[in-house]
Amino acid sequence: MRVLGIETSCDETAAAIVERDENGHGTILSNVVLSQIAEHEPYGGVVPEIAARAHVEALDRLVKQALAEANCELGDVDAIAATAGPGLIGGLIVGLMTGKALALAEKKPFYAINHLEGHALTARLTDGLSYPYLLLLVSGGHTQMVLVRGLGDYTRLGTTIDDALGEAFDKTAKLLGLPYPGGPAVEQAALKGDPKRFSLPRPLKGEARLDFSFSGLKTAVRQTATEIAPLSEQDVADICAGFQLAVADTLSDRVSRSLKRFRQEYPDKPMPELVVAGGVAANKALRAALQGLCDRYGFRFVAPPHNLCTDNAAMIAWAGVERACQDKEFDQDESFGKNGDPLDIAPRSRWPLDQKSAPLIGTGRRGAKA
Ligand code: KG4
Ligand code: ZN
Repeated sequence: MRVLGIETSCDETAAAIVERDENGHGTILSNVVLSQIAEHEPYGGVVPEIAARAHVEALDRLVKQALAEANCELGDVDAIAATAGPGLIGGLIVGLMTGKALALAEKKPFYAINHLEGHALTARLTDGLSYPYLLLLVSGGHTQMVLVRGLGDYTRLGTTIDDALGEAFDKTAKLLGLPYPGGPAVEQAALKGDPKRFSLPRPLKGEARLDFSFSGLKTAVRQTATEIAPLSEQDVADICAGFQLAVADTLSDRVSRSLKRFRQEYPDKPMPELVVAGGVAANKALRAALQGLCDRYGFRFVAPPHNLCTDNAAMIAWAGVERACQDKEFDQDESFGKNGDPLDIAPRSRWPLDQKSAPLIGTGRRGAKA
């Protein structure tokens, strides 16, 4: 099973070819990603109009490049998959329409993929994980703890009630005068800082619910910075170190509760996995904290390579592979899956993975990035 994947939900234009052999083993034949960071940098965040236009300009070329690098032609793929949401609607339209057009012209089955499902299933491609497992998705637009029970069977255990974690890093960086995107800049500055100099809050720490909150932490950073302004380089480093420690602490507290919950539900899985995904997963201090937590609770910590944690099309192609294999198993006409004609599917700016969980007020306010 070989699938072309297309991703255009935010500020990365991406195309990839992924293959699955009869043993279920996945291989990435090509994975092309064009980041738009330079285009958005002057604005300190993603501008939807600019993103959509940049996708239009680049996508055809990237699809060609992905096919060439995989040494194949469009006729050689078994299906085409494109992100249909959640994300910025202009960008989604570009990728979805391109995918549908290619599928129609080549008479291939088409799969409209939930971007979050792409993140959720990546560890099955990279590490061959079997269901069930836990996924911590921490990116610029999402902070969620998801119980991945099976394909299409997701339970959201917790989510942010205000800012996404990447957003908190970005806002912290901005108010300290550090460059965009803020996460790497904060991590870098924190290396030279004293994490104990400022005491910052640990939102929701100790509470029984499994949700996250970061806006109070960001406000505390602002207050601290205002009190001691003007800031020296050392002040900035100390605030970054304090912020990162507070995040590591609060994340460990929140995640530990989900690990316990998983144990209660699946007491017979001997060494369950906690998978981390999203751009924030690049942060070494947070990875170390999560690794320590997993060691303590008898979980295996799985962190896919950085380029597969951030937005990419290999994860969309792989989700397409899984969907196509499931359809085959059930002997369905692949191009007319369970949800009717996939060529009729419209892009969705909001599309929760777990349809049963009510949206929380304030969640994903930015709503653009996953
Ligand atoms: O997954 P991603 O590439 O894009 C989406 O949000 O979809 O994540 C980007 C986010 C940004 O908020 C960025 O600041 C954050 O991930 N990030 C980091 C680090 N690298 C990227 N946050 C903390 N530490 C990092 N090293
Ligand atoms: Zn994403």
